[in-house]
Amino acid sequence: MSTEKKLFIKTYGCQMNVYDSERISEALIPAGYSVTTDETQADLVLLNTCHIREKAAEKIYSELGRLKQLKLKKPDMKFGVAGCVAQAEGQEIINRQPMVDFVVGSQAYHRLPDMVKSVDNGGKPVEIDFPTEDKFDHITRPKTKRKLPSAFLTVQEGCDKFCAFCVVPYTRGAEVSRPAQKIIDEAKLLVDQGVVEINLLGQNVNAYHGQGIDGEWSLARLIRELAKIEALKRIRFTTSHPNDMDDDLIAAHGDTEKLMPYLHLPVQAGSDKILKAMNRHHTAEEYLNVIERIRATRSDIALSGDFIVGFPGETEADFQQTLDLCEAVRYGQAYSFKYSTRPGTPAAEWDQVEEAEKADRLRRLQTMLTEHQMDFQLSMVGKTLPVLLEKPARDPGQLVGKSEYLHAVHMDAAPELVGTIVQAKVTRTERNSLGAKIVNN
Ligand code: SAH
Ligand code: SF4
Ligand code: F3S
Repeated sequence: MSTEKKLFIKTYGCQMNVYDSERISEALIPAGYSVTTDETQADLVLLNTCHIREKAAEKIYSELGRLKQLKLKKPDMKFGVAGCVAQAEGQEIINRQPMVDFVVGSQAYHRLPDMVKSVDNGGKPVEIDFPTEDKFDHITRPKTKRKLPSAFLTVQEGCDKFCAFCVVPYTRGAEVSRPAQKIIDEAKLLVDQGVVEINLLGQNVNAYHGQGIDGEWSLARLIRELAKIEALKRIRFTTSHPNDMDDDLIAAHGDTEKLMPYLHLPVQAGSDKILKAMNRHHTAEEYLNVIERIRATRSDIALSGDFIVGFPGETEADFQQTLDLCEAVRYGQAYSFKYSTRPGTPAAEWDQVEEAEKADRLRRLQTMLTEHQMDFQLSMVGKTLPVLLEKPARDPGQLVGKSEYLHAVHMDAAPELVGTIVQAKVTRTERNSLGAKIVNN
């Protein structure tokens, strides 16, 4: 009889990696592993990595350096690298850090049980193929109750858009949509496990075109079908591309009550010259038109976005147009980054903007974005909002949950309220969250 082994997974990068890590841990149950949150207890440490910006990959190598200390104390400990750095660098990771026992790319997780067996037999397997089968097809899912009432569910993976700065088409491969029925079955399973909110994931989630019972389904069709699952209360999706924001999906924000009034719609830049160089295939005005249409459907929708400053060729005047676009949209919340050269992508070869200039633009952009975020949060104070309570907060006696607009909301609440939606009156706003009081109704 095999004794149970402990798996510690550290996850970097986007929500899809969070989802993948969960499925990886399920894939390793038959191999005798259960998850631990204490790395010193682990028999296997797995880093699920991100390659989106330069520092992301460097972080992995310094983390591996740190983990070496653990192996000194526990020589049997095994180390694996998964995810997008694994996909991009493959064998190179073992060459650079020989302590690593195996490397598994973002599309090869179905190979994991065999790979850990091979490691036990002294092998050092590297799997970075893009298979035609679904990487999670053969994983049996446990029926246990879940800790969190909100879950991710991947519906689409990969990208064919090839923005000039981005590694995702290389690390996640071509765009593939999962069949609708598989997604519905998975959603039902999650709901049976206590989930009430599902966040549909895809690198280009609104390009979803999976096989349904009567031909290809759009994301809007899939959302409407999922909304029929009674015990499922909230549906979200991320990340969308402006060019795939079709009329039906916009309409769904008006007619599908369970679809939350929040849209993450990255634009990256406000200058048409830069958008063209980025290969985004839309202008700033076209983007603003999409925003206008969605606001006409759902006036209170909270918008979120991603920005890159200092893309090759970006002048001060181009950057000003990014600020103008932000002013026009007034995002509820947004992410912004300095352009980071990625080997193998076209923009890496072009003339680069100076680091100091990038840093200055990022600071100015973030000042504006933070101001808009604060205004939006302040506008919530005094309002009573439905909040899905998710877990204990840091302060004893408090729980934290999410507003429909995806604000983190803290309040005094009994632990048994986790997983329920309460009406809460917002009493204060902090940097990245709101404070509220449950309203008796
Ligand atoms: N599919 C999404 C984005 C996925 S990557 C979309 O099309 O918008 C997440 C974010 O990382 C991007 O929106 C972009 O803002 C940022 N990003 C990607 N590559 C980058 C790079 N080379 N340098 C800086 N930021 C980058
Ligand atoms: Fe990357 Fe998104 Fe562009 Fe695809 S659409 S290449 S994931 S930024
Ligand atoms: Fe990073 Fe890969 Fe996600 S590069 S952002 S983990 S798709």
